[in-house]
Amino acid sequence: MDLLSHIKSNAKHHNKRVVLPEAAEERTLRAADLLIKEGIASIILLGNKQKLLAEAQTLGLANIEKAIIIDPVDNPDESRYVDLMVKIRENKGLTREEAEKLIKDPLYLAALMVKAGDADGEVAGAMNSTGDVLRPAFQYVKTRPGISVVSGAFIMILKDEQFGQDGILVFADCAVHPDPTEKELAEIAVATAGTTMSIAGIEPRIAMLSFSTKGSAKHPKVDKVVNATRIAREMAPDLQIDGELQADAALIEKIGQSKAPGSPIAGNANVLIFPDLESGNIAYKLVQRLAHAEAVGPILQGMAAPVNDLSRGCSVSDIVNLVAITASQASEESQ
Ligand code: ACO
Repeated sequence: MDLLSHIKSNAKHHNKRVVLPEAAEERTLRAADLLIKEGIASIILLGNKQKLLAEAQTLGLANIEKAIIIDPVDNPDESRYVDLMVKIRENKGLTREEAEKLIKDPLYLAALMVKAGDADGEVAGAMNSTGDVLRPAFQYVKTRPGISVVSGAFIMILKDEQFGQDGILVFADCAVHPDPTEKELAEIAVATAGTTMSIAGIEPRIAMLSFSTKGSAKHPKVDKVVNATRIAREMAPDLQIDGELQADAALIEKIGQSKAPGSPIAGNANVLIFPDLESGNIAYKLVQRLAHAEAVGPILQGMAAPVNDLSRGCSVSDIVNLVAITASQASEESQ
């Protein structure tokens, strides 16, 4: 079974509740119909019930009737969420009046539903920017204990199976945090190890990437990766991790052996942790385009409950896949 089929089958087994705040958007409605039809997750749609059902009928989407539909501007549970918002962000100056306005925004309502435990996860981003999707999640869902930073991983499925784990590699951070500190970089490595095990289903062998291998260059940017590797080892002593390594030393056995002799990771890494968002985002797009790799993600990691962000250019099947991943993340968290 391929990786995505495996993720979908795992999601079906757990039947988690995923909220889709962009239900008014056609691709999201089509994806919701397929997700319900295939039983991948229980779907909660945010929007005007009458309008959504009429749109579904026009598009011939018979399964939308089985979704739970909640209208953010006419929501009987509104005051419960407003109470929660004020409780969480009163110390940041949030007033009740401001909270009453914000909760009518589907992106805020979705984040609050996840926080309150009324949904197990959220997927959005087909019509909103990354910042607009993530801000409510950062503010209300927040990070999990021991992790202060949310990051985004991609599972890269390569055509050439000689790299990583039979052609599967996990890259991070490719999506969220522009310039992590060494402590944050260590957290990103630890969180990515979790994603690698729970979603990609493989034992992580983590390379902390740099433009230097084992002291070949001296620079504060190299020191950051060396220190991040040490901190990650302290955070998770069982991790198989090494750094600093250049990408070729991480991936190619002969080069790994010559540049980093004795390293347990050099030459056979299956997880690549990039020193910052510039390198991670550029790298995943180059591998996706030049090597025709499938890039599954971004899978947001480090959040207290799963919230995932789509690209605005996403297809219906991208939405279906990301909901399946979100449901799988939720099932891991509840175990
Ligand atoms: N992890 C956890 N919390 C965070 C993070 C993070 N990575 N970043 C910000 N926060 C928190 C802040 O601490 C703050 O919390 P508070 O209000 O309780 O104090 C809150 O989120 C808002 O923080 P801001 O600094 O105001 O965050 P802002 O909303 O301006 O920016 C954002 C966050 C949008 C994620 C920003 O870091 C960003 O633009 N990142 C790049 C995203 C991007 O463009 N990625 C590439 C495209 S995606 C792709 O190609 C797949």
